[in-house]
Amino acid sequence: MAMTLAAPKVKVDRAWQLYIDGKFVDGGSTRELINPADGKVLCKVQEGTAKHAEAAIKAARKAFDEGPWRKSTAAERAALLFKLADKIDEHAEELAELETLNCGKPLREARFDMADAAQCFRYYAGLATKPNGFTVEVPAPSVTSIVREPIGVCGQIIPWNFPMLMAAWKLAPALAAGNTCVLKPSEFTPLTVIRLVELLDECGLPPGVVNVVLGLGPEVGLPIAESTLVDKIAFTGSVKTGKVIAQAALTNLKKVTLELGGKSPMVVFSDFDIDTAVDYALFAIYCNAGQVCSAGSRIVVEDKIHDEFVKKMSERAKKIKVGPGIDPETEMGPLVSESQYKRVLEYIEVGKKEGAKLQCGGTKSEGKELNEGFYINPTIFSDTKRDMRIVQEEIFGPVAVIQKFSDEKEAVDIANDSAYGLAGAVFTNDITRANRVIKAIRAGITWVNGYHNTYNECPWGGYKQSGWGRELGTFGLDAYTEVKQVNINLEPVAVEWFQK
Ligand code: NAI
Ligand code: MG
Repeated sequence: MAMTLAAPKVKVDRAWQLYIDGKFVDGGSTRELINPADGKVLCKVQEGTAKHAEAAIKAARKAFDEGPWRKSTAAERAALLFKLADKIDEHAEELAELETLNCGKPLREARFDMADAAQCFRYYAGLATKPNGFTVEVPAPSVTSIVREPIGVCGQIIPWNFPMLMAAWKLAPALAAGNTCVLKPSEFTPLTVIRLVELLDECGLPPGVVNVVLGLGPEVGLPIAESTLVDKIAFTGSVKTGKVIAQAALTNLKKVTLELGGKSPMVVFSDFDIDTAVDYALFAIYCNAGQVCSAGSRIVVEDKIHDEFVKKMSERAKKIKVGPGIDPETEMGPLVSESQYKRVLEYIEVGKKEGAKLQCGGTKSEGKELNEGFYINPTIFSDTKRDMRIVQEEIFGPVAVIQKFSDEKEAVDIANDSAYGLAGAVFTNDITRANRVIKAIRAGITWVNGYHNTYNECPWGGYKQSGWGRELGTFGLDAYTEVKQVNINLEPVAVEWFQK
């Protein structure tokens, strides 16, 4: 690790405010954001309450019901989103630094997220103007078309692991479809989201179309999920909070989409090149320090190669350069917050107590600059049992659990032995077997001989308790629309159902 770090260029010592009805406003209290790389205060941000959530909802409601946005053409909305994407690219380096300072992730990952976010806006800008709806041949004389319309006011609650990208996944399809939005970023990581709405504001977005309310989940998020003025709620985060949101949404039966993480299996057969499989396993679990909903957190390995796999994976895990994300040499950063850091350390203790074998990591990373940050070394547990908590529960940190199987049936059983069903992968050179296993895996996002490729063009979401609905792709746009049938009678003659 470099002993002296180049000072980041981005300015964090400035006002960070809420954005309501086209104005940047204070929220009445402030929160100190902590830089996870050193545990020190990074900057202060404004924070709001239920009162601000309410004002934002009213602004979004008015903008939808009376403003120009809903009457805008698809081409106009597309133009605005293309403009925003260009602005994200222009500011990519600044935004990436900001994301790194706020979340801890290595710069190379933050840069990737910014490029991906810009592409997400471009994808939905393009989709907005593509053929939409269809006509149906019905008994004459009606001409019937099926059209999609915006749902209305959309509440959007996002987590701290990919703040910019999650904002893009939610705002891009919502805006392309003509909705208005009330977005609540995580209280830990609001910075890039605020910069994003500043850029949106510069693009000339009408007031009230997007509002950002900073604050705590129960104080600001819950009122959005409960409000009868909100037509849809989209949430990414924990299962526990997801269930609270779904319950709250019952007030007016608002539409709900939930993306709630997982405990995804990466199944490795012995016929596949072991070094390549190990390489993918590292990528699957240690990317963003394991704080990825689709992380390959259960590595399910065929018994024949199990010991060699564990040895090779541990050797390589120990070599991963852990450090501040802002250091260009860093390969894995700290955890996002002290609470997440403690949560993961607790799980490591649970794993030891449950009798799993700690192969590497499991400790706080040591070193001069690392002492105060929220660092945990890449960790591997082997000798696990299916019912262990570390095997069943989402840890959301750099902790891989290894599971062993002896035949294909057992591999599939283990892979599916989870309350979650977000992602899954299989590694084998046998294409017939790959096809069988992938079909058997109960998950929404799967890979054969790969991991983590994510495409704006493809639906994202899970089976079982990994959530409701899908984001991204055409599915993501559909999730921000209502469906309407329009029947036009071309030959209106009296029906004379009742006598004259
Ligand atoms: P969380 O689900 O509580 O937080 C996510 C978002 O929900 C944040 O914006 C938060 O302010 C908001 N929120 C929290 N409580 C709320 C409530 N009662 N009403 C409305 N909004 C509320 O996640 P947390 O506690 O930060 O992390 C706990 C675990 O959740 C992680 O260890 C991980 O397992 C999982 N998680 C999964 C994510 C995913 O990408 N699927 C992202 C973040 C966390
Ligand atoms: Mg929580």
